[in-house]
Amino acid sequence: MSRQEKLKNLHEKWTKECTCELRKTATQAVLGYGNPNADIIFIGEAPGKKEDELGLPFVGAAGKFLDGMLKEIKLKREDVYITNIVKYRPPNNRDPLPEEKAACRTWLLEEIKIISPKLIVFLGRHAMNNFFPELKIGSAHGKLITKKVKEIDTKYFFPLYHPAAALYNGGMRHNLIVDFKKIPKVLKKIESGV
Ligand code: URA
Repeated sequence: MSRQEKLKNLHEKWTKECTCELRKTATQAVLGYGNPNADIIFIGEAPGKKEDELGLPFVGAAGKFLDGMLKEIKLKREDVYITNIVKYRPPNNRDPLPEEKAACRTWLLEEIKIISPKLIVFLGRHAMNNFFPELKIGSAHGKLITKKVKEIDTKYFFPLYHPAAALYNGGMRHNLIVDFKKIPKVLKKIESGV
C-alpha cells in the first residue's frame, strides 16, 4: 500500500474514532495536507476559523505567512507535509487543553510514522511541548534537536516560533524568518549524517 493510501485509511479511521471533545463544536476535522513522501513535516497547534471552514491546515493569515517563508527557501506546501497536534478547532481559538492534545496524539504519531520524515519542524510551543515538555520556545527556537523519541523513527526536530504569534510581533517575526531560512542547511546536515 502506498503512503498516500495509508494516510487516507488513517484519516478515515480517526475521523470516526477520535474521542477529542472538540469535535462537538468544530465544523470538521482538519487533516494533514501535503506530500506523503515529504522530507519535512511541519506541526502546528490547532486549526483556526478558516481552517475549520475549509478543512485544510494553515490556510488563514498564519498560513499565508508560512507559504511566503516556504517560498523563500524554494519550497511549496505540496513539497512538505503540514499538520496539527489537535485536528479540531478549539472554540474561539483558545489553547487546546491537555486532554484534547492527548486525544489526538496517537493520530498524529501514526501520521508521522507513515511519512517517516527526515525532519520535524514545530510551529510554536504547543507542538514542541507535545514532544519536549521541558523546553522553552524562547531558548529552543532555531536550534536543531537530535533525540530519539518513543514511538517514532524521526530523530531530528527543529522548533520555530508560531507564525500566528510572530505575525504582528516585530522581534518574533524577525527571529522566525531568520530561523526558517536555516531549514535547508539543517536538512543537508541531517542528510550528510553529521
Ligand atoms: N494555526 C495552527 O496552529 N494551525 C493551523 O492549521 C492554523 C493556524
